[in-house]
Amino acid sequence: MFAVYADKFSSDDPLAGLVVGERPEPDAPEGWTTVTVKAASLNHHDLWSLRGVGLREEALPMILGCDAAGHDEEGNEVVVHAVISDPSWQGDETFDPRRSLLSERHQGTFADKVVVPRGNLVPKPASLSFEEAACLPTAWLTAYRMLFTQGDLKAGDTVLVQGAGGGVATALITLARAAGLRVLATSRDEAKRSRALEIGAHEVFESGARLPVKVDAVMETVGRATWSHSIRSLRPGGAIVISGTTSGPNVDDAELTRIFFLQLRVIGSTMGTRTELASLVNLLDATGARPLVDRVLPMTDAREGFEAMASGDVFGKIVFTR
Ligand SMILES: NC(=O)c1ccc[n+]([C@@H]2O[C@H](COP(=O)([O-])OP(=O)(O)OC[C@H]3O[C@@H](n4cnc5c(N)ncnc54)[C@H](OP(=O)(O)O)[C@@H]3O)[C@@H](O)[C@H]2O)c1
Repeated sequence: MFAVYADKFSSDDPLAGLVVGERPEPDAPEGWTTVTVKAASLNHHDLWSLRGVGLREEALPMILGCDAAGHDEEGNEVVVHAVISDPSWQGDETFDPRRSLLSERHQGTFADKVVVPRGNLVPKPASLSFEEAACLPTAWLTAYRMLFTQGDLKAGDTVLVQGAGGGVATALITLARAAGLRVLATSRDEAKRSRALEIGAHEVFESGARLPVKVDAVMETVGRATWSHSIRSLRPGGAIVISGTTSGPNVDDAELTRIFFLQLRVIGSTMGTRTELASLVNLLDATGARPLVDRVLPMTDAREGFEAMASGDVFGKIVFTR
């Protein structure tokens, strides 16, 4: 079958190991099912995989892609939950130490077909297109859990979203606005700041700019480049929720004094549960809020999408269709 996969790693030139070609059809083990992929979306995770982060050499060749929407074996329209937990695991699957994401241990979604545990399918409402639904399982689910589960934010709270252009960041802005929060966002880029206003930010600022108010929570995915500003933007008792470190994990100043003196909370967040994915789908269905799609490409042109993400030339999600 057609597939987009990694056949080697390169930390300097991740696209060197990207192959657009053919892989064998998958067999669904007991308890798993086959989904025919209609649309899949690109995440920074796919670039990390090509750099050899989170993926072992022995697992190569590995079909990339965590996110997909398509048809199940009965022809129902479904969204695929990307977190694969151990069959014996009970409860919140993001706490399962043996969990993995599609394309880490099990073949990913950039292909004609993907096999997943039966319990990982969530019905796709007719109101969402396959392209929109394919944006949800990683970036949008991560944003949902950051805001509402880990951040415990409520309508009327004020939130700062760092790095407005990213896939997770655009999801954070749209979801926060749909849920009645006051939304501040930063970006290094003037055009991205304007677009952030269009998708729901109340106010936008240059990266690192002093804010007019202290916020209840900061949603952090940039890491080193914005960490200090995130900590300095919080009200006493506020929370920073972190799910990524695009600019690097080693900060110049961890702002430890400020963290204890202002009694700030630093909260990690990773992906989300199948239940949260179903709630996210319901939220979009009910509010009319939709994922911002930067561009839709046929999966055969996947390299173009990877190049755009690697160069940072993205606002919203890149979607591949079959
Ligand atoms: N823990 C999880 O479950 C989980 C799930 C999804 C993603 N993630 C992680 O979250 C991060 C974001 O993912 P994504 O898919 O949204 O990636 P992305 O679309 O590539 O987002 C990157 C954004 O980060 C900002 N940025 C990058 N370098 C920067 C710098 N030096 N200074 C300031 N801002 C910078 C940019 O914002 P501006 O250009 O607007 O300034 C850019 O738009 C990644 O590290 C990813 O691995 C984690």
